[in-house]
Formats: sequence, C-alpha cells, structure tokens
Amino acid sequence: MTVSRIVEKHGNNRENLLQIMHDIQDAATDRCLHRDVLDELSDIMNIPVADLVGTATFYSMFSLTPRGRHIIRLCESPPCYILGSDNILEALRERLDIGIGETTPDGLFTLEHTSCLGACGVAPVMSIDDEVYGNLTTGKVNAIIDQIVENQIAAARNRK
Ligand code: FES
Repeated sequence: MTVSRIVEKHGNNRENLLQIMHDIQDAATDRCLHRDVLDELSDIMNIPVADLVGTATFYSMFSLTPRGRHIIRLCESPPCYILGSDNILEALRERLDIGIGETTPDGLFTLEHTSCLGACGVAPVMSIDDEVYGNLTTGKVNAIIDQIVENQIAAARNRK
C-alpha cells in the first residue's frame, strides 16, 4: 500500500500519525521507515521531516534501519527479569546466533529488548510481531522459533 493510501485510510490528521507510521513500517519488507518514505509522508501531512524522525526515534516500535521479517521483542522490565528473561535472552542468542539489535543473516528475525508488554502475570514474556508469548522457557522459545521457520518454509513452497 502506498504512503498516500495509508494516510487516506487513517485520515490526514496529526493525531493519526503513530498508526500511519506503524502501517507504513509494516508495509516495508525490511520493517523500517526509509528516509524517502518519511520525505513523502512529510509532504502529504505537512509535518517537518525532523518531527517524523524524532517520532520514529522516540518510540521503540519504530526503526530507521532495516530489520528482519519477524521482530522478536524480549521484555526486560523487572518482573520478567526476576523470572528469568536473561535465560530467555541466552536461549534466543544461542538459537539465532544474534544479539540485541541484530538481524539474522537470512533476514528472518530481528532481536530487540522492550519494556513491559502488559503481560507480567505470565512472565517472562516476549512478543513476535503482534503475538505475545508468556511463561517462556528455553524449550518453549525453541519450539516457537521452529514453528515460525516451518511456516516460512511452507509459505515459500506454496508460492512456487
Ligand atoms: S514486566 Fe514483562 S510483560 Fe510486564
């Protein structure tokens, strides 16, 4: 979907900016906000590019650099940390061979930290794209990643 159509969908109003930027980022195959797209958005919404860049850098859900197809966000807030999020991070690092802020060479996963995801009752917690996973263990993390990789392979097969 083009920038203008996304703006049209939400309404060209500054109060809709976060949702508009979210959809624009989602539409990008590398899940980031490119400068040329922000220039276009600036023209359409009559908002200075500096403001858009400021918004993109203020909110952790936005990125100005390319990321993987799936964004893994591991909660690092105290309740999750106390219940072992550092062990989950280690499991993710081992499984994906990347650290926080990095993307796997195949472009499938980017690993990030996040603050509370609002699911402290099932800590430790991570989200992958829009899905939240709780009561994480090393085994559960590996099973979730396995499932996503399998889905990816099946989707690629179906496209052939
Ligand atoms: S502290 Fe991790 S989900 Fe709330």
